Amino acid sequence: MQKKIAVILGDGIGPEVTQQSIKVLDSVARQFKHQFSYEYGLMGAVAIDKTGDPLPDETLALCLRSDAILFGAVGHPKYDNDPLAKVRPEHGLLKIRKELGLFADIRPITTYAPLHHLSPFKNNRIEGVDFIIIRELTGGIYFGKKHLNEDQTQASDDCVYHRNEIERVAHVAFAYALKRRKVLTLVDKANVLETSRLWRKVVQEIAAQYPDVTVDYLFVDHAAMQIIINPKRFDVILTENMFGDIISDEASVITGSLGLLPSASVGNKLALFKPIHGSYPQAAGKNIANPNGSILSAAMMLDYFALSEEAELLREAVMWNLANGFVTKDIDPINNYSTATIGDLISDYVENRIPSRMNKENMVISKSTII
Ligand code: IPM
Ligand code: MN
Repeated sequence: MQKKIAVILGDGIGPEVTQQSIKVLDSVARQFKHQFSYEYGLMGAVAIDKTGDPLPDETLALCLRSDAILFGAVGHPKYDNDPLAKVRPEHGLLKIRKELGLFADIRPITTYAPLHHLSPFKNNRIEGVDFIIIRELTGGIYFGKKHLNEDQTQASDDCVYHRNEIERVAHVAFAYALKRRKVLTLVDKANVLETSRLWRKVVQEIAAQYPDVTVDYLFVDHAAMQIIINPKRFDVILTENMFGDIISDEASVITGSLGLLPSASVGNKLALFKPIHGSYPQAAGKNIANPNGSILSAAMMLDYFALSEEAELLREAVMWNLANGFVTKDIDPINNYSTATIGDLISDYVENRIPSRMNKENMVISKSTII
């Protein structure tokens, strides 16, 4: 199979984690005789520095002629504490989502047995947690009209949803529910917000087309609590843009590290794959960041290409690393391996270079491979 992949390394740790995904995708290509080609585009703070624009037109054009987009991270501290900054790295990501019509963000939340001890939750609460957050990604308050009055004493952000925007993402969520345990939870704030009441009405109507799916409804404040006290109850969560942003970071805590979580932003014609973490500027360039979120995003990209065996192999390789203690500093502050080494080990796994009966003490972890 031939695929053209647009790569946007972005800011902070984006480049170093994405390089591991490319290394691993190259291994998949060699092992399964595919051809993946990569073309690089700018976005984020790095794009502002070079062009003045967080999403140059060239990058958009590159995405439009590609089969998928592999994305690193966006954000730089110099913009975070400057409320008056006219351009922001994050605008690049919001704009690409809008321009490419990536209206649904798929964020799977899975726990890994070898990491249970890292979770702030008791084991029995997190064993077997497996749910997906489907976040609406191109509407709501992030895209509504913004206003700041002249003397800068009053500001507003409109939250607007049209029923079409709700319908299309709801169908994505119901389709996922049908493939899974067939429970869909709509998270909203229908006791207060008009937009949420529209969400509830539209989802209730659509539910009639999916009689096999059980639908329940939770207010977002209560959902935030349920994610902590009973995460196992969830299968598919469907929610609007801002609530999805917030509860997905919250849910990531269950797994033990934000660095593990992948996402796929999908629409009608293209898809973008990125770890859910941010640019983590404190770790940038240090070769310590966890590349698994990016590698698992690459696995989601392989699923999107209908290469499910390849995708499964990547997930198995990540699991193998975690089970054998090959982890980065965020997971084990004492015994840890570099970003690049984790990528090397996953490549080795994919290309069958891992000895079948290996033992950690017999391994020399240096620049590349296992002996
Ligand atoms: C995310 C991020 C983005 C968002 C930022 C970087 C604009 O937090 O992908 O969750 O808010 O959507
Ligand atoms: Mn976020």
